[in-house]
Amino acid sequence: MKILFVCTGNICRSPMAEGILRHKLHAARIEAEIDSCGFETFHVGDHPDSRAQTVCKKNNIDISSHTSRLFRKQDFDHFDRIYVMDSSHYHGVSRTARSAGDMKKVDYILNILYPGSNTEVDDPWYHDVQAFERTYKQLEAACDLLVKELRPVIKEQK
Ligand code: 4NP
Repeated sequence: MKILFVCTGNICRSPMAEGILRHKLHAARIEAEIDSCGFETFHVGDHPDSRAQTVCKKNNIDISSHTSRLFRKQDFDHFDRIYVMDSSHYHGVSRTARSAGDMKKVDYILNILYPGSNTEVDDPWYHDVQAFERTYKQLEAACDLLVKELRPVIKEQK
């Protein structure tokens, strides 16, 4: 199973989601490949925002080594699932998609918690560290449920 998280700058929400899911899958001894990327060039090559790193570190998750990269159409070939944070990423991904099959892999991450609602993960970048704490909690709740859902799926693939 290969899972990709997508946000705008790939320095806050998606690297947090990547770190949280990798940490939880490792604890559950579930093997999967996790990555994240973004749509804006501003931060390509940068490590995650220090506030995102701090909040993750408080939860024993080290995301410091991630470097921001852009979403590319080959991601549709490599990944089984692509989770976006908000409608701008959903539309960005859909503009890159080559087929309906590509878009079958794509969903809003909070649809894991609230199916079909297309609820967005607000961008914490413009706010204080408390906003990053709230983002962490939202992403963690989604990843907890995702791990539960993936456990039988990945066992079946083995
Ligand atoms: P992210 O947050 O998409 O969660 O990584 C942002 C980071 C940087 C910018 C926008 C959103 N920016 O405009 O530079």
